[in-house]
Amino acid sequence: MRITVVGTGYVGLVAGVCFAESGHKVVCVDVDESKIAKLKSGVVPIYEPGLSELMQNNTNSGRLVFSTSLADNMPEAEIIFIAVGTPMGADGSADLHYVLEVAAEIGENLNGYKVVVDKSTVPVGTADKVKKMISSKSDMPFDVVSNPEFLKEGAAIQDFMKPDRIVIGTESRRAEELMLRLYDPFVRTGAPIYCMDVKSAEMTKYVSNAMLATKISFMNEMARLSDAVGADITKVRKAVGADSRIGTSFLFPGVGYGGSCFPKDVRAIEKTGVENGLPMSIMNAVGEVNENQKKFLNEKISAVMGDIKGCKFAIWGLSFKPQTDDMREAPSLTIINFLLSQGAQVAAYDPQAMDVTREHYFQDKIEYGAGPYDVVKDADALILVTEWNEFRVPDYIDLEKLMKGRRIFDGRNIYLRSEAEDHGFEYYGVGC
Ligand SMILES: NC(=O)c1ccc[n+]([C@@H]2O[C@H](COP(=O)([O-])OP(=O)(O)OC[C@H]3O[C@@H](n4cnc5c(N)ncnc54)[C@H](O)[C@@H]3O)[C@@H](O)[C@H]2O)c1
Repeated sequence: MRITVVGTGYVGLVAGVCFAESGHKVVCVDVDESKIAKLKSGVVPIYEPGLSELMQNNTNSGRLVFSTSLADNMPEAEIIFIAVGTPMGADGSADLHYVLEVAAEIGENLNGYKVVVDKSTVPVGTADKVKKMISSKSDMPFDVVSNPEFLKEGAAIQDFMKPDRIVIGTESRRAEELMLRLYDPFVRTGAPIYCMDVKSAEMTKYVSNAMLATKISFMNEMARLSDAVGADITKVRKAVGADSRIGTSFLFPGVGYGGSCFPKDVRAIEKTGVENGLPMSIMNAVGEVNENQKKFLNEKISAVMGDIKGCKFAIWGLSFKPQTDDMREAPSLTIINFLLSQGAQVAAYDPQAMDVTREHYFQDKIEYGAGPYDVVKDADALILVTEWNEFRVPDYIDLEKLMKGRRIFDGRNIYLRSEAEDHGFEYYGVGC
């Protein structure tokens, strides 16, 4: 099939590369000229494990090309994916202007039947808006499909190539058949494809993210309570997760969720509720708990260390989670902003996110290290923010030698209190 993917971010680029890998001819389009220039020269502008190699294979084979022009790449396309951003608008709702801009351009260039697929995360009713926009520009036939994406940054290739499930929302039999053919190579291992109406498909994505965010905020609230009453949330989590009705995943307390999805999707579904006369009290609480949780370590640091003016803090991990360079809404931002506002010094190390952090967030207001032990030199305390594998087993002997202070604030509960204490460190986790 001939596929055009509009938007070459985390979702569009991965989708385009994976469709090409399964044998389709794919054009990835983006308005960002510098991004397209990089992609054309073989450089992946984001960090996503395995993406670079797969992209190289498919550009070499000629199945994958990049362009800044949607108009040039409309005529041959059978399916056009809209995979542009849907950031949080000022009032908390999803900002659809990128999606509708693309829909208008599709309408202006329609030359025959096409399937237009919303892959961006969009509120219920967006497919109708896309349809209206295209119809206002063209009399040519087309169908709009909702096909939400469930990949996780850091495991995006694996998730896309071997999805847990695929959701296809459409009222058109013709579009559904085309989509089923497109995804056939991805479900050979038996993963289900759920075909449904457009609105239910749009809703499915928000309900999935809302459920995951709820699990995180719930456990973070329980961790705070454990902290207050002297219980150990790590022991509690294991025993609670053993209940097969609950399960073990997404029960890990920490410094709050971040990234480009959960924060905005929780707010967007809350807004959809309000617009429909249904206040979303759980969603409201999930968002609020998360905002407070991002400040958990700040409060802990103040309680333990008092005035931190002039103190030096080493930060391990900046990205919102491991295996990505994505800094959008990362808890590290809240923590570093707090430390700087108190007059503390910050030295940070992250395996992938330092360039983005320097360029878009802190410039030279903080120090960046060449490795984890580079930044702990003379530090009064170490703060673990993102649980990259390389931070999991700290070398306490080096920490003892290099650090000035003896405090570890573990924002992901990955260290053993007993081990830290055996080496003379004070250990502070999240509810343990
Ligand atoms: N990042 C994730 O893990 C993830 C997972 C599932 C779903 N989603 C959803 O997928 C969508 C895309 O997310 P992302 O993280 O890939 O976004 P992103 O910000 O990384 O990328 C969006 C891209 O769209 C491009 N763009 C904007 N307007 C354009 C236009 N008119 N024509 C061509 N390109 C245009 C931008 O230049 C940018 O490169 C969002 O709705 C998001 O909620 C994201």
